[in-house]
Amino acid sequence: MRTLRDAAADADVHIGAAVDVESLRTNTDYRETVAREFDAVTAENAMKWGPLADGESGYDFAAADDIVDFAARHDMYVRGHTLVWHRMYPEWVRPWARSDTEMRRLLSDHIHTVAGRYRGRVDAWDVVNEAVDDDGGLRENAWLNALGPEYIDRAFEHAAAVSDADLFYNDYGADGLSAKADEVYDLVSDLVAREVPVDGVGLQLHVFDDVVPPADVAANVERLTDLGLDVHITELDVGIGEAVADRDEQAEYYYDVVSAAVDAGVDTVVTWGVDDGQSWLPARGFGDAPLLFDEEFRRKPAHGAVLDALGE
Ligand code: XIL
Repeated sequence: MRTLRDAAADADVHIGAAVDVESLRTNTDYRETVAREFDAVTAENAMKWGPLADGESGYDFAAADDIVDFAARHDMYVRGHTLVWHRMYPEWVRPWARSDTEMRRLLSDHIHTVAGRYRGRVDAWDVVNEAVDDDGGLRENAWLNALGPEYIDRAFEHAAAVSDADLFYNDYGADGLSAKADEVYDLVSDLVAREVPVDGVGLQLHVFDDVVPPADVAANVERLTDLGLDVHITELDVGIGEAVADRDEQAEYYYDVVSAAVDAGVDTVVTWGVDDGQSWLPARGFGDAPLLFDEEFRRKPAHGAVLDALGE
């Protein structure tokens, strides 16, 4: 039977999934599904600062290494996620108790340590995640407080110094045409104009309250690629509930949005998880059963829809 991976290879794009390391280690169905159907992976949590370095004793790369090793064994593209984020960094960072100089040094050390370790093994990094505030402007966070807006430049420069991966800015709510998408566009345009080493933009595309019109996604992708940037769909999932009523509508939307994105120039599409049994969306009340496989790893209509979208 034709897999997503086959279709992606023919279309010369990557199709990926965010993976959970425990499931990869212990669940055979999960592991086999990922290896068979996808040619790209993102660590759902294992490469975030908190999971990497929860204790003050230093970094523990065992989980992240397992994902990178699995990807290498199966000849997969690896999206590293994420170096700088306002969430899920270790408690010991304690921004409220540190000088701006210490924060500047921590940012640099962290990026050098992690991006440096995976040089040659991670193909793309989400260097900065979710830096734009929903109400406009830059989101207030520990890095903005300590370094000001230049923390974004520094993050990309540190990553470029130690990594040969493509370097991405990644965000949510900036997928189609919206005020936030305009802000992200302005942010990355400015980075490009000032020759900050950014290579691409990740559009998360979590869909649960309203569908994002596929034509708007295409228009947004086109204006970003016109800046010379690569565009990935990085965290796609479509919750059943408010946005789509059932599995068939879900499949239809997957087809429409993946076709539109790929036609507009997206070369990598990653779903935020593998099976409906393990997804962050339902746990947060953001819609049900959002992925391409059901909880028993059976292919859903959405799987066929993505297969068709890649096949054209
Ligand atoms: C989520 C994971 O899926 C959860 O397991 C975790 O508890 C919180 O983070 N945007 C992102 C991702 O960039 O890193 C988030 O992942 C989902 C939203």
